[in-house]
Amino acid sequence: MDKLTVRDADVAGKRVFVRVDFNVPLADGKVTDDSRVRAAIPTINLLLQAGARVILASHLGRPNGKVSDGLRLRPVGQRLTERLRRHVPVTGDALGIGTEDAIKRLRPGELLLLENLRFHAAEEKNDPAFAAQLASYADIFVNDAFGTAHRAHASTVGIAKLLPAYAGLLMEREIAVLSNLMDEPARPFAAILGGAKISDKIRIIDHLLTSVDLLVLGGGMANTFLLAQGKAIGKSLAEPDRVADAQRILASAEKNGVRVVLPVDVIVAKEVTRGTEYKTLPAEKIPASWHIVDLGKASQDLMVDALADVQTVFWNGPLGVFEIPSFAHGTKAVARMLADRADKGATVVIGGGDSVAAITQQGLADRMTHISTGGGASLEFLEGRELPGVTVLLDRPVPEPRARRRKKVPAKTATASTVETSD
Ligand code: 3PG
Repeated sequence: MDKLTVRDADVAGKRVFVRVDFNVPLADGKVTDDSRVRAAIPTINLLLQAGARVILASHLGRPNGKVSDGLRLRPVGQRLTERLRRHVPVTGDALGIGTEDAIKRLRPGELLLLENLRFHAAEEKNDPAFAAQLASYADIFVNDAFGTAHRAHASTVGIAKLLPAYAGLLMEREIAVLSNLMDEPARPFAAILGGAKISDKIRIIDHLLTSVDLLVLGGGMANTFLLAQGKAIGKSLAEPDRVADAQRILASAEKNGVRVVLPVDVIVAKEVTRGTEYKTLPAEKIPASWHIVDLGKASQDLMVDALADVQTVFWNGPLGVFEIPSFAHGTKAVARMLADRADKGATVVIGGGDSVAAITQQGLADRMTHISTGGGASLEFLEGRELPGVTVLLDRPVPEPRARRRKKVPAKTATASTVETSD
């Protein structure tokens, strides 16, 4: 990576402000998926072991600048306490005298977690005074919040302009894996895209079409492509105003020699609910009152077959309404197949969001090459866009060409007594 990382920083005894992405799902006051907490631990441990005084900071949810008791970071602090096996205090607020005192009292090798940054509207506005206050807590800034790197907020961009700013280990790994996908993927390279809407994915599809060999489409977004092919999709979720985009994408795939695999049969349901009536139909002419909710068996077989020899895969978005078990078969079949491909040495990268939940539910997460902690951030990165939270970090100095050394050679084999070499 062309950015300096926490390994390059001299952190012993220093106060280090670490932006993490602890925006995790909660239910009944408990963290239901702590992947993002676990992913931040290598950076936290590295800093603690090096004798830094660590100030962790994150947002949680979208409280819109107001204190919301349901979005306090205490449950996250508890989970981190369990994972680190040491107490992680959470301040009552990201600002205030009490917080400043707690930070001043930190000794080398100790840490605390600031309360939800987004309780202050100034955070999302990248307010300079708020950024300056956060910066006043520390000597060094480390950004390990890859999932928030596409946001130009006070704790991701503002503070990085005020302190020496380094990438954390998670940030480094995310950028390395996602860059490799685009720069030098082993071929064949496939992208599997699902989820509800094509409008969220147009830019990434356009960008991926310049590098993938195979594009597999499922979920609600595939319905808009079926419409673009002149098929009837009944009451299924679709974006008719995006049909022209879908047609353009199909034409551009053909021009670039990218094979596009769309569903050939689908599960259709009377309602998108549990316990409803459902059946399999060819993805040609869905009756007016039915909804497409999953891939049919022929589509699953077609996709599994198309993916059989891929060496690199990027997957984002479920291929059906996978929250309802009867409609999760397509998503599950593809997830199992990808785990097998990864076992056989293919690079399989899962790009955040619901596809991660689908994989985690099946206990397949550990078999994948990389599961990104960033939903929106990984998509924006693969769209070829700059992530402001990364751009602002310190650049790694470009190494000078090795000095040309003067080396003595025997006079009889050279016309002069010395020659220059560049070894
Ligand atoms: C995420 O969950 O994608 C990140 O934490 C960013 O959250 P945001 O979309 O609310 O900025």
